[in-house]
Amino acid sequence: MSIVVLISGNGSNLQALIDAQLPASISHVISSSADAYGLERARKAGIPHSVHSLQSYYQGVPVSDKDERKKRRQTFDKELAKKITALHPKLVVCAGWMLILSPAFLDPISEAGISIINLHPALPGTFLGLNAIERAWEAGRRGEITEAGLMIHYVTAAVDEGEPLIVKKLLLNKDETLEKYEERIHAAEHEAIVEGTIKAYESIAAGQQ
Ligand code: GRF
Repeated sequence: MSIVVLISGNGSNLQALIDAQLPASISHVISSSADAYGLERARKAGIPHSVHSLQSYYQGVPVSDKDERKKRRQTFDKELAKKITALHPKLVVCAGWMLILSPAFLDPISEAGISIINLHPALPGTFLGLNAIERAWEAGRRGEITEAGLMIHYVTAAVDEGEPLIVKKLLLNKDETLEKYEERIHAAEHEAIVEGTIKAYESIAAGQQ
């Protein structure tokens, strides 16, 4: 059984997976950006890697042409699914993948019997979408919440709302700087991404997924 990991940037969560004793191999890393340092991490680890860039699909289409960009985005999703199904993984791990995955991607992945999980750096049902870490930290500063954290969850079309696999809670300290909170949550992410991947693998191996 093999795993495909999707990244968009630094790849510190990918690195945690590379350094872990996983029950399955990472057969391929796909980045949404050619500049992602995570690609260098894959190269150093001898893991095949490629880029699937949304910008290249949007080439020559003005931002104002919403219909054409919507079509290109669908094609981007469809062709990403094709790339992944051709690799025959049993599990896709979104590790710092920053793009919303539509049914144009999720449906063929599900039809191919491939599970997909995602790291969302906020607690279930909170701070959906981008910049979750900063938004949670700011809510803590405003005294609105006293705890935040992260989850690894199954990916569905409802962004960041699939069934949680792993939840890690962190107490917020109003006087803590964002940098300090980021250090704590990234450390927790690096544990959770490994635990979540192993847990998802075990469900697949037990035929539950
Ligand atoms: C992480 O905080 C992740 O939750 C978010 O992107 C950040 C960077 O992840 N989606 P990585 O270092 O690229 O794994």
